[in-house]
Amino acid sequence: MAHFTKAKSLHDWLNQRLAIDTLRRVLATEYWIPKNINFLWAMGMVLAITFGLLLVSGIFLLMYYQPNVDLAFDSVNYTIMQEVGYGWLWRHIHGVAASVVFLIIYIHMFTGIYYGSYKNGREMIWISGMLLFVAFSAEAFSGYMLPWGQMSYWAGMVITNLFAGGSLHADGLVEWIRGDYVPGQAFLNRFFMLHVLLIPLAILGLIGLHFGALRIPHVNNQDGEEIDFDAEAKKYLSGDKAGSKVIRFVNDFLAKDMMVVGIFLILFFYLVFYHYDFAMDPVNFDPADGLKTPAHIYPEWYFLWSYEILRPFSTDVGLIAFAFAQVIFFALPFLDKSPNAVPASRRGLFKVWFWLMLIDMIILTAMGKVPPEGVFSTIGLYAALTFIGLWIALPIITKFEKKA
Ligand code: HEM
Repeated sequence: MAHFTKAKSLHDWLNQRLAIDTLRRVLATEYWIPKNINFLWAMGMVLAITFGLLLVSGIFLLMYYQPNVDLAFDSVNYTIMQEVGYGWLWRHIHGVAASVVFLIIYIHMFTGIYYGSYKNGREMIWISGMLLFVAFSAEAFSGYMLPWGQMSYWAGMVITNLFAGGSLHADGLVEWIRGDYVPGQAFLNRFFMLHVLLIPLAILGLIGLHFGALRIPHVNNQDGEEIDFDAEAKKYLSGDKAGSKVIRFVNDFLAKDMMVVGIFLILFFYLVFYHYDFAMDPVNFDPADGLKTPAHIYPEWYFLWSYEILRPFSTDVGLIAFAFAQVIFFALPFLDKSPNAVPASRRGLFKVWFWLMLIDMIILTAMGKVPPEGVFSTIGLYAALTFIGLWIALPIITKFEKKA
């Protein structure tokens, strides 16, 4: 049993029991951040805040949503949107945040790729980040089922069909996932549970892991400079704040983070109030009907690139290509064979690789939205082949990269 003394204040009482001073030091005031970083390093905080918005708005929506195939559509489109005071606001916040969070995730991921922030000790940051990407994808998909509109139903049908594995015909697995032959009450119930409980819990745990993984290697910087954080921290604490290459996370860096978060929130609420419709598919304003297949079924914009990798091939090859696209980003730290953790602009062929990958994923996204006909399907096919080719080329071009 530790030795406790009579506390002089509430702070002292808590400190003796929870070591709050040590926690504050380790996680905030002596958590060192390089000075040499730009606004792109605020995206992690923007993501954390957007996740907070999703949680809070989701809790309000949960008070009126009905996970029942006969009531779900009306509980969203009438009860929440028209009858409950400010129900529309919480729904628009939730819908816009669900879409915008993916834009920020992609910016955050490509920042990491550009600056090589996934290697030389930062592998676990990247892997936990990718786990977050998968968890957010599952969260978005399960949430999309809940209004029980036409797109909910048919996207649910198409995506669960993928688990049949093409000519493997694992149809039993598809029924097991759905809990029925077609999406129905059991399906809605389990996706509701996943969306409001299991996946958010997993996300919270993964955010903890992601932050924990950042603690030892610290964040990278925009020149890829290897900073001796202990030495620079000593310099800072001895009073040489100007000469030190680092600043405190709280309050110094957090203040900068919050400025970017502030600008983001202005844009975010502009979208919520004036352009929320971009985050809602018009087809999903028709109630689910198992007898009426929509003419064109496509996922939300953030899944289009991987959907387009599935589409141009025959069923089996398409499924393999799709599975490849889902997992290959996890392997990035191990496929990039160069020890250079510096900006892509200083990495020769990798610079070309980076921009080709970014442009290719934008083309895949655009092609995923249009019907797979004529010239679009040809562009889609070449873009999918380029995606796979780029990943095969990565270990080869990085193996011969010169020390930057
Ligand atoms: C959605 C949940 C996520 C949250 C809340 C989050 C949060 C953060 C925060 C606060 C940082 C430190 C500051 C910064 O660099 O922005 C960070 C760094 C990082 N994150 Fe995430 N992140 C998330 C998702 C991801 C994803 C999907 C990836 C990529 C697979 C990723 C990869 C990284 C990397 C590589 C770093 C290190 C950056 C560096 O060292 O410069 N994160 N993240």
